[in-house]
Amino acid sequence: MQSRTEKFSFHVKVFGCQMNQADSERFSAFLVALGGKPDSEENSKIIIFVSCGVRQTAEQKIVSSIKKSRNGRPGSILILTGCLAHRPDVQKSLREIVDIFIPAGQLSDFVNEIKNLTGLEKDFKVDDFYTLKPLREETFRVFIPIMTGCNNFCSYCVVPYARGREVSRSPEEILEEVKLAIKNDAKEIFLLGQNVNSYKGEDGKGTSWDFPDLLKKVNSLRGDFWIKFLSSHPKDTDAKLLKTMSDCKKVSPNLHLPIQSGSNKILKLMNRKYTAEKYLNLLKKAKEIYPEIVISSDIIVGFPGESEKDFEKSIAVVKKARFEMLYSLKYSKRPQTAASKMKETVDSLEKKRRQQELDRTWKAISVKNNQKFIGKQIKFIINSTKETASGLLTLGKSFEEKTVCVTQKKSDNIKVRGDWAWAQIESVSPLGLKGKIVKK
Ligand code: 5AD
Ligand code: SF4
Repeated sequence: MQSRTEKFSFHVKVFGCQMNQADSERFSAFLVALGGKPDSEENSKIIIFVSCGVRQTAEQKIVSSIKKSRNGRPGSILILTGCLAHRPDVQKSLREIVDIFIPAGQLSDFVNEIKNLTGLEKDFKVDDFYTLKPLREETFRVFIPIMTGCNNFCSYCVVPYARGREVSRSPEEILEEVKLAIKNDAKEIFLLGQNVNSYKGEDGKGTSWDFPDLLKKVNSLRGDFWIKFLSSHPKDTDAKLLKTMSDCKKVSPNLHLPIQSGSNKILKLMNRKYTAEKYLNLLKKAKEIYPEIVISSDIIVGFPGESEKDFEKSIAVVKKARFEMLYSLKYSKRPQTAASKMKETVDSLEKKRRQQELDRTWKAISVKNNQKFIGKQIKFIINSTKETASGLLTLGKSFEEKTVCVTQKKSDNIKVRGDWAWAQIESVSPLGLKGKIVKK
């Protein structure tokens, strides 16, 4: 495509979860290592789409973004990776538009394709991908993948097909990445995995580490930072993890623990391998071991065969679990999954109604949960600021993963994205806490 000495420009577009964000930072680092130069989409020769295939809506958004990119820049090289790239139907429908498809789990392909494409020879082994220092978009919040893939095959989910089986990184490699992030002033360190708490690593001495071992070690590192992690599977959430969370002062009390449904019939069809009662018992145990724990969850509505009665069981479980945050998702049929062979029984209007009812239910509970913060001062990290008539509207996240909203006045010592700040909480909403900024 060009001479070996000429730099090539590239742009990475990320869709979906934090795992994709983390992958994209490594793609960027790899391209830079090969002599690439990050640039805007308009100016780039190579454009990489890191895609999400969890739901149909995400898929549509990505496909239209790819088409727009191709129409605007016929000479560019478009690469599709992430959780859509492995799908034969996607490859077929986009084969005239996308130049290269690189499935999420197949990083070796990525390395080789880019080497071919650029004509640049570098001594770079595929194993090096995760040891590459990521090119971070920001340093105050970092996403560190500790494991990838999934062995669970929940019947609705594309992840095991897109990312393959579970693979854990070595503790040494993770700790090195964490230490570097701390050195670069990270305030919020996210440990990531499709099933983060089924992490099973092995160090150079052959000792195996589980997720609580890793949490303890990261917690013991010096520095002023918070540790957050997602997502956890109920099957790997045990007393050791809960006790570790409670003992480790830098570890956020937020445990994101998707339940997916409150109906045992649907849980079975989903292949989740627990019942609603077992899940609720786990929460009871969690609150005994760690009373301050903050539980959030995911629930899918309209899974094939979900009757009104099954749906009511999801409502009932939300009332019992008293989640502090809930992501309600309309079931979306995904090719290749076991559920894609089941007959859909809930139409989209009904899915929407169930989603709205679920949202009303958890929001009424979360507003009550949040009231305990009124009158308290709470530390948070600023995510965004926006000029408004009444001042600088400022949003951030607390240790508990609550959204905090304050308005900074001109007279305040203005704080910006990535700064620590303190707020005096004056009112609450289902989605978070509102107050005024205070000096500490
Ligand atoms: N339809 C709807 N929601 C889904 N999720 C995963 N696959 C699907 C699907 N096919 C949701 C699950 C998971 C979250 C990340 O996305 O609730 O926990
Ligand atoms: Fe998907 Fe289930 Fe694996 Fe989570 S545990 S990534 S929902 S298959």
